[in-house]
Amino acid sequence: MRKFIIAAIALSLPTLAIADAATDAVKARQAHMKSYGKQMGTFAAMAKGEVEYDAAAAQAAADELGKLVMVDQSAFWLPGTSMDDLPGVSYAKPAFWSEMDKAGAIGKEMVAAVAAMQEVAGSGKGEMAQALGGIGKNCQACHKAYQAKKD
Ligand code: HEC
Repeated sequence: MRKFIIAAIALSLPTLAIADAATDAVKARQAHMKSYGKQMGTFAAMAKGEVEYDAAAAQAAADELGKLVMVDQSAFWLPGTSMDDLPGVSYAKPAFWSEMDKAGAIGKEMVAAVAAMQEVAGSGKGEMAQALGGIGKNCQACHKAYQAKKD
């Protein structure tokens, strides 16, 4: 019996290690997405007039977002980390993996929109607000297709 238990533990270890890696990948991408949200919040607050437009702060947020979108995300989007694989942890729809080219195309558009924001963030509130809309479109397009709502 003791032998059996030890063998069972030994067998389950690799599975646990894989589950950890999968959960870590999900946590990492969710944290990365939150950082996008933080920079977008800076623009949105200024665009809505909740915070006074500040060219330097807008530019800093744009440059930070520019860095974030350049991070290699391949390790974040491991296969086997959809909401079906990790319910309650992942909110990414399985379609993300079957339509990776489509999701990637949205991601590319977002990168271009962020570059456009970097050009104009410090030029004025109107320019910044317009660029914000350009980025937001891509966030929304991807979420609509591939992110499940969290309750
Ligand atoms: C290429 C697709 C794609 C793009 C582009 C994208 N997201 Fe996401 N986002 C996702 C997916 C998929 C999830 C769900 C991830 C999960 O739960 O595993 C997500 C989750 C999130 C979350 C929730 C994170 C959490 O704590 O669970 C936030 C916030 C977010 N995204 C913000 C943004 C913002 C802001 C942008 C635009 C600047 C953006 N995203 C662009 C696909 C995308």
